[in-house]
Amino acid sequence: MEQNRDQWGSRLGFVLATIGSAVGLGNIWRFSYMAYENGGGAFLFPYIFALLTAGIPLLLLEMGFGFFTRKSAPSSFRKVSKKFEWVGWWSVLVAFTVVVYYIVIIAWSLLFVFKSFSLGWTANPETYFFGEFLNFSGSAFNLGGIQWPIFIALVAVWLINYFIIAGGVQKGIEKASKIFMPLLASMLLIIVIRGITLPGSMAGIKAFLAPDFSRIFELGIWLDAFGQVFFTLSLGFGIMIAYSSYLPKKSDVIKNGVIAAFADAIFAIIAGLGVFGILGYMAQAQGVSVAEVATSGIGLAFIAFPKAINLLPAVPQLFGLFFFLSLTVAGLSSSVSLIESVVSSLIDNFSLSRKKAVTMVSILGFLMGIPMVTQGGLAILDIFDHFVNIFGLLTVGFVEMLVLSYAFDLDKIKDNMNPSSDLQVGPIWKVLVKFVSPILIGFGLLQNVVSEFS
Ligand code: PHE
Ligand code: NA
Repeated sequence: MEQNRDQWGSRLGFVLATIGSAVGLGNIWRFSYMAYENGGGAFLFPYIFALLTAGIPLLLLEMGFGFFTRKSAPSSFRKVSKKFEWVGWWSVLVAFTVVVYYIVIIAWSLLFVFKSFSLGWTANPETYFFGEFLNFSGSAFNLGGIQWPIFIALVAVWLINYFIIAGGVQKGIEKASKIFMPLLASMLLIIVIRGITLPGSMAGIKAFLAPDFSRIFELGIWLDAFGQVFFTLSLGFGIMIAYSSYLPKKSDVIKNGVIAAFADAIFAIIAGLGVFGILGYMAQAQGVSVAEVATSGIGLAFIAFPKAINLLPAVPQLFGLFFFLSLTVAGLSSSVSLIESVVSSLIDNFSLSRKKAVTMVSILGFLMGIPMVTQGGLAILDIFDHFVNIFGLLTVGFVEMLVLSYAFDLDKIKDNMNPSSDLQVGPIWKVLVKFVSPILIGFGLLQNVVSEFS
């Protein structure tokens, strides 16, 4: 059995696939806005603190765990104890839930790639997006009809994912990552250079980075930093466990993990410069403040950006193309990793062939996505997203750390990854995983529960 298990073909392939999972919509539209909202440059302190105390330790824990068990999440946790197999399934379920709506957003991005040729989002992108494009009914209880262009894009994005994952770890995911990541980095670089050389961009960048240290004592900023770090590193989805289970025995897990974590942070900061440079330009062009144009998420990508693109002095079409292609590519390399977490678990647990497993997951995921491409779709998508934020991410990561710290032996994971690595994890890592991270995150979760019900 073990010989038949898929493997990465090279260290570079694994690192690129890991970065591919990590770098996603979170780097392009979530990080910059989080920073802006939370004291600008001063947010970097809580962010780096969260990265070092929780993000990287948990990333290395997930990687070291998969590298040790050489199995996907559920089977890995079964090796801890039969009692804990559910933890693995839980992270797989969260991954599946996320990918269902994540792919809908990629489908929008893909359609916007084509719209950029003619600036098809019209002179009023807001009305266009909610009106003609989504035909949004305003409620999950009023699904209305299917939006056929989005439906077709949804099929296309699922098919792309299907073929990449059906190709296998080395010939599918690794190969795609080797194309996607350089493509993404170069497109993003072009966007950023354009963004920061526009008139007014400095005001935007200042809003993004100028530190407001008076806010550093606010609790919310620190909680946001932890949430952002988990999301951005794709932690708590069984992804890093599955990806590391495909590493050859003598792989430098620790160094690879650290490289991926820093690459992700660099992507986020650089993308932030581009995003806020362009928002600054738009603010100036419209004679308003940066605060009036700064938004995040769906509104940033599909409304604010098209507005800004409309205002660009030269070849706005090309810029639109690069931006939406970046979103699409960043999204695809993340969706592939989410699906692979589910697929590898089905393969490991039900001895399905890879083809069968991907087919099942793709069909089910596609069917579940259909309500999200109706006129009420946006509202359904929001409900899914809310659900995941509460029951996924920090919650799963918290449980993982506790189970592996107290029902398993961290030394086993540590001793298995240290010898093959230039970098070593030691007592500090153990203290972080066992005490510091769970306490900080547990506190954050408590805070979330309180704010959910108040
Ligand atoms: N890490 C991705 C991002 O920053 C989001 C993501 C989360 C992707 C979980 C896959 C799994 O956008
Ligand atoms: Na990320």
